[in-house]
Amino acid sequence: MNNYKEIFLGTAFSSQSPKEIQIMQNHLFCINADGMIERVVAPEDADYQPLLDAYQGKDNFHSLAEGQYFLPGFVDLHVHAPQWAQSGTALDIPLYDWLNTYTFPLESKFSDLDFAKKVYEDVVSTLLANGTTTALYFATVHKEASLLLAEICAHKGQRGLVGKVVMDDPQQNPESYRDKDTTTALKDTEEFILAVQELAKSTKQGVYPVVTPRFIPSCTDEALQGLGELAAKYDAYIQSHCSESDWAHGYVKDRFQKNDAFALNDFGLLRDKSVMAHCNFLDDDDARLFADTGTAIAHCPISNAYFANSVLPVAHFHSIGVEIGLGSDISGGFSPSLFDNIRQAVISSRMLEDGVNASLPAQHRGVPGSRITIDEAFYLATAGGGESLSLPIGRIQENYAWDVQIIDTKCPSAKLLIFNENEDLHDVFQKIMYLVRPEHIREVWVQGNQVHTR
Ligand code: GUN
Ligand code: FE
Repeated sequence: MNNYKEIFLGTAFSSQSPKEIQIMQNHLFCINADGMIERVVAPEDADYQPLLDAYQGKDNFHSLAEGQYFLPGFVDLHVHAPQWAQSGTALDIPLYDWLNTYTFPLESKFSDLDFAKKVYEDVVSTLLANGTTTALYFATVHKEASLLLAEICAHKGQRGLVGKVVMDDPQQNPESYRDKDTTTALKDTEEFILAVQELAKSTKQGVYPVVTPRFIPSCTDEALQGLGELAAKYDAYIQSHCSESDWAHGYVKDRFQKNDAFALNDFGLLRDKSVMAHCNFLDDDDARLFADTGTAIAHCPISNAYFANSVLPVAHFHSIGVEIGLGSDISGGFSPSLFDNIRQAVISSRMLEDGVNASLPAQHRGVPGSRITIDEAFYLATAGGGESLSLPIGRIQENYAWDVQIIDTKCPSAKLLIFNENEDLHDVFQKIMYLVRPEHIREVWVQGNQVHTR
């Protein structure tokens, strides 16, 4: 019998496909020394009982209590780590004003490493406590503070993908918050990539550098070109914002006479390892370009309600073959929880489908075929995020990382109303999706290591 590092016994929910949930009742999950799920064993399998006999009672055998369930850890595809310091404020003004009045002045403070440490320690711990095991982060323009964020992820055991933000255009960015010049922006990015790759060697779960032009409006053509070349040279991840709002989408059309997607592609910024936030204003040609290049969308439904002037047509873009995951977009989105974003993704899609202006006749009010189910929104937060990053994460399945959250529906301060132990498990799953709060998340594991407990 194999010598497993840990064995877990319990009921797990994972995505079978974008539309279907797989329920594994009382299964054994066998984890190897690399933190990968080596075997999933069903009660009817021949070696189920022998495995139980061999491991039950040992320190590395973990059995869930009644009312507890495994979910895959969440993959947050879009977080501005520095903006955690202003989460929940200043959401009543448009994107352009919000950036210039609140966000750039806040981000400029991350030249101070003590301040950066305070905010970054807290945001990484908070995301872990909310079940987020992998996060794709924007840091700030500061190379040292960006590296500090990667180090904090490494230290706390979160799989962090971190970008030093590039904003080099002196016409578009305030003097108090921008790269010194284009050459420095590219040099800092290259040094940052090398430093994070070095740091990654000492982590089990991995940390990754991300090439990060903030968005086209903040970057010169030379910087965009140079960043595309750096991403190719180091086979690095790329992240940016794309076609987010009427203003941001219109700015790029005015500058390049084409949509964001094609402009980014011209600079070599759409690749299999690219994740673009928002993308609300993509047309079908843009979406096909995303599908052809393997570029993924980070859908940020809470943030979109404030800044995007629209609802992302998730179902339509899925039908074109675009990979889509979910992002909190802290602090454009106020919540650090992907549970909250799962809920909003469903609600927004329903409002898109039905329409919102009751003075219009029903048949002209909405966009038919737009709704997504809670199962599909869960897919976005888990397997969809993993696919977007081309990493073996987001599913509880053999050859995937043991990145999980243990949900306790009997948590005394916030019991979920599951009256009957024989309640249909898909109904239990839905209650978890809609009602879980951080206090239900008892344990979080990343790559076979426990990183949070309460
Ligand atoms: N576009 C450029 N920067 C940002 C940002 O920080 N948040 C959002 N939502 N959109 C952006
Ligand atoms: Fe953003």
